[in-house]
Amino acid sequence: MASKPQIGVCYYPEHWPETLWQDDARRMAALGISCVRIGEFAWSRLEPARGQQDFEWLGRAIDILHAAGLRVILGTPTATPPKWLVDEMPDMLPVDEHGHVIGFGSRRHYCFSHRGFHAECERIVTDLAERFGQHPAVVGWQIDNEYACHNTTRNWSQASLLAFRQWLKHRYGTIAALNAAWGNVFWSMEYNDFQSIDLPALAPTENNPAHRMDFYRFSSDQVIQFNRLQAQILRKHSPGRDLIHNFMGRTLSFDHYEMGGDLDISSWDSYPLGFLEDRSDAPAGWRQRFARAGDPDFQAFHHDLYRSTSNGRWWVMEQQPGPVNWAHHNPAPRDGMIRLWTLEAFAHGAEVVSYFRWRQVPFGQEQMHAGLLRPDGVEAQAFHAAAAVVEDLEKLDFSGDGPADAAIILDYTSAWAWEIQPQGADFDYFRLLFDHYRALRRRGLSVDILPPDTADLSAYKVVLVPGLFAWNAALLSALENHAGAVLVGPRSGSKTTEFQIPGGLPPNLPTNLLDVTVAQSESLRADCPIGVSGSDGRIRFWREFLEVGAAGETVLASDDGKPLLVHQQNRFYLGGWPDDVLLDVVIERLCATAGLETLSLPDGLRIRRRGEYLFAFNYGETAIDLDAVGLSGALLFGENALPPSGVAVLEV
Ligand code: GAL
Repeated sequence: MASKPQIGVCYYPEHWPETLWQDDARRMAALGISCVRIGEFAWSRLEPARGQQDFEWLGRAIDILHAAGLRVILGTPTATPPKWLVDEMPDMLPVDEHGHVIGFGSRRHYCFSHRGFHAECERIVTDLAERFGQHPAVVGWQIDNEYACHNTTRNWSQASLLAFRQWLKHRYGTIAALNAAWGNVFWSMEYNDFQSIDLPALAPTENNPAHRMDFYRFSSDQVIQFNRLQAQILRKHSPGRDLIHNFMGRTLSFDHYEMGGDLDISSWDSYPLGFLEDRSDAPAGWRQRFARAGDPDFQAFHHDLYRSTSNGRWWVMEQQPGPVNWAHHNPAPRDGMIRLWTLEAFAHGAEVVSYFRWRQVPFGQEQMHAGLLRPDGVEAQAFHAAAAVVEDLEKLDFSGDGPADAAIILDYTSAWAWEIQPQGADFDYFRLLFDHYRALRRRGLSVDILPPDTADLSAYKVVLVPGLFAWNAALLSALENHAGAVLVGPRSGSKTTEFQIPGGLPPNLPTNLLDVTVAQSESLRADCPIGVSGSDGRIRFWREFLEVGAAGETVLASDDGKPLLVHQQNRFYLGGWPDDVLLDVVIERLCATAGLETLSLPDGLRIRRRGEYLFAFNYGETAIDLDAVGLSGALLFGENALPPSGVAVLEV
C-alpha cells in the first residue's frame, strides 16, 4: 500500500462539555490529525436505561468532527455494558477459574458465550449502524475494544459450560471419539456422554492437557464468533467502511489470524513503556536501560505480527502519549521517543498511528494517564511529538512494502499448548519466539511473522519454526518445497493436534526433510544451562536428546557430547532453547546457507527496510555512528551520528 501514512487520536466527547467540542476538532485538524476514534465506551450515554436511547449527542459530535475535515472511526460500545443491563441479566458476568464472579465496576465484564448478551449487542450495534453507518464522516468501525485484555478470553460461567459441551459434540460427534482423542482411559477419566463434561478447573492435580486444550480452542472460537456477529451487522448496514479491532501486546489467548479474516484492518495498542514494565522477560538491567524508551524489539514484533493478521492493512489504534496509569511504574518517555515510535510503525507499514488520548481526563481510573493535552487543555509532550511527525511525513514518500528477508511462524495453538504443559517453569512460547525475533533483528534483518498454515514460503531466504505444537499439511508442503534456509525446533512437531506424542516421536517429520528423532527432552533450571562445544553460547530452559539418522549431519554438539544442531541440505534442527550468543551463531549459519548478508547491530539500534527507504532507530542512550555499523546510503533525514531517540532515513 503506497498511500501516505496519517496520524489520528482517540477522543471521548462524552467526557467533556459540549462547548469544548468545536475547539477540540479545530485544534485536532490544525495539528494535522486526520482520523478520530470515538464512542467505544459510551453505552450508558447512548442507552441510559432500558428502552431509552440518546444518539443525538453522538450525532452532533460526529457532525462537528466532520465539519472540521476529520474522519471518524466509530466504536461499538460492547466492552462496557451498562449497569442496568448487568442487573437485568447478572449471569452475563464472567466467572473465573475458581468460580468467582467478575463484577461490574470497570470494563470487559461479559461472557463471550452468553446468548442474552449477544442479543443486546446485536440490537445496539444494529441501531448504531442504521443511524451512523452511511454518515460521510464515518469511514470505519472499531468493534468492541481489546478482546482478551484484563485476562477475559476464558470464562467458567454456566453459559460457557453449555456452549463448550455443544462445541465438543460438534468437534467429536461421539463420546467414544472424544475419550480416545483425550486419552481418557488414563486415571479413569472416561465420560459416558457430553452432558457430563465440565470445564477444566480446580482438581486435586493438573487437568488432562487435551481437555484444557479444547477449552482454550473453544474460548478462542467464542471470541471470533462474538466479533463476527457484529461484523456481519456492520457489513450489512455500513457498506464500504473498514472494520477494525484493536489488539493488544503479548496477548495470545485467541487466534488473531482467524479474527483478521473478518476484519479489513488489524490494529493494536502500543504502550512501549508500560509493556516493558509489565510484559517483558528481559533482565532487570535491560529494563532499566530502556525504561524511558521501551524494548527496541517489542513494538516491531507486534507491528510485524498484526501486519500479517489482516493481509497487510494495519494501524496503531492507540499510541502511548506519555506516562500511563496501569504499569508497575509509569515513567515519562524520553524526549523524542513518541516521534520515534510513530515513525517506526510507519516504517513497518502502518497506515495510521492514532494517539491515546486527546486530553487527559481528570476523573475515573485513567486520570493519571497522559494525553496530547493536559487536563487544562494546554499542549503536553505528545502534542509536540505529533506535530514533529506531521513535519517528518512531509519529507517522506512511502512506497510499497514487499516481503521481508526472514520469516517466523507464529501459531496461537502452540502458545496454548505450552501454557498448559510448559514442562519446565521457563518454557513460554512468546518468549521463545521473541528471542528468535530479536536475534534476527540484531543481524539487521526485516522480519515477517506468518500464520502456521502458510502454504508458500518462497519469498523468504530464512524461515524459523520454533516451538510449533503440531504440523499441518500446508506448512509441511511449504517446507518441503522451500529452497531457503529453515530452522526447526526446539519442541516443534512434538504433539499431534489431539495433544498426544506422535507415533514416530518428535519432530514428526519425514526423514527426507529432517532425519532426526527427539528420543527424550528435559527442562532446565535457569541456573543450569548447558555449554556448547566450540562456542560461548549455551542451551537454557530446554534440551532434547537427539538421534541423528543417516541423512542428517551434526554441526553443533553440547559440552556433554550430545548432538544439538543437525543440518540436512537447507534445513536445520535445533534441539534446545538457545541463549542469545548461541542464537547469533545459529542465525549466522542459516544466513550463510541462504546467502543473506547480515549486520551486527548494537542493542539500542534497530533498522527496517521499506521500499527504497532504510529506517534506523536509536532506542539507546548514546549516539550511534551509522557508518561504523555498516549502514550507508543517502541520508534523507537524520544524522549519521544518530543521537538517542534519533531516527534516520537512508535511501538505498
Ligand atoms: C488500552 C485501552 C484504552 C485505555 C488505554 C490506557 O488498553 O484500550 O481504553 O485504557 O489502554 O493505556
